[in-house]
Amino acid sequence: MKKILLINGPNLQLLGVREPSIYGNVTLPQIVEDLRNRASAQGVELADFQSNSEGAIVDRIAAALTDGTEGIIINPAAYTHTSVAIRDALAAVKIPAVEVHLSNVSSREEFRNKSLTAPVCRGVIAGFGAQGYRLALQALLEKW
Ligand code: DQA
Repeated sequence: MKKILLINGPNLQLLGVREPSIYGNVTLPQIVEDLRNRASAQGVELADFQSNSEGAIVDRIAAALTDGTEGIIINPAAYTHTSVAIRDALAAVKIPAVEVHLSNVSSREEFRNKSLTAPVCRGVIAGFGAQGYRLALQALLEKW
């Protein structure tokens, strides 16, 4: 069975209560359940991981090298704009990754315009709220 790893970075455990006008009302468990059901309908297993810690995210990406992960959907959240370590981890494992942002980061503060992680991902989906995760799953499934 193919396996996709979903990674969510800092503060995304607060989805549903965190600035709903920007990030929407859907909670992270709802996003994970929806994505897992959709993946499973296509014969794909979805593993999920959320952490507020940069090092833990780096470790989880490295672990993907040996646990059969064939695709990564990642919302690095604030680390998108700061983390050389997460970028290097994604580049190191060379597993096709899609970067997701709930909000349209390009239309927000200038510091959100720069993504350190996007250049090592296959593509970026931003601005479509929780639907972005579904689009990322579709992109990975269609690439296969
Ligand atoms: C985010 C955008 C980031 O700039 C922000 O730090 C987040 C969430 C998004 O999904 O829109 O935490 O990645």
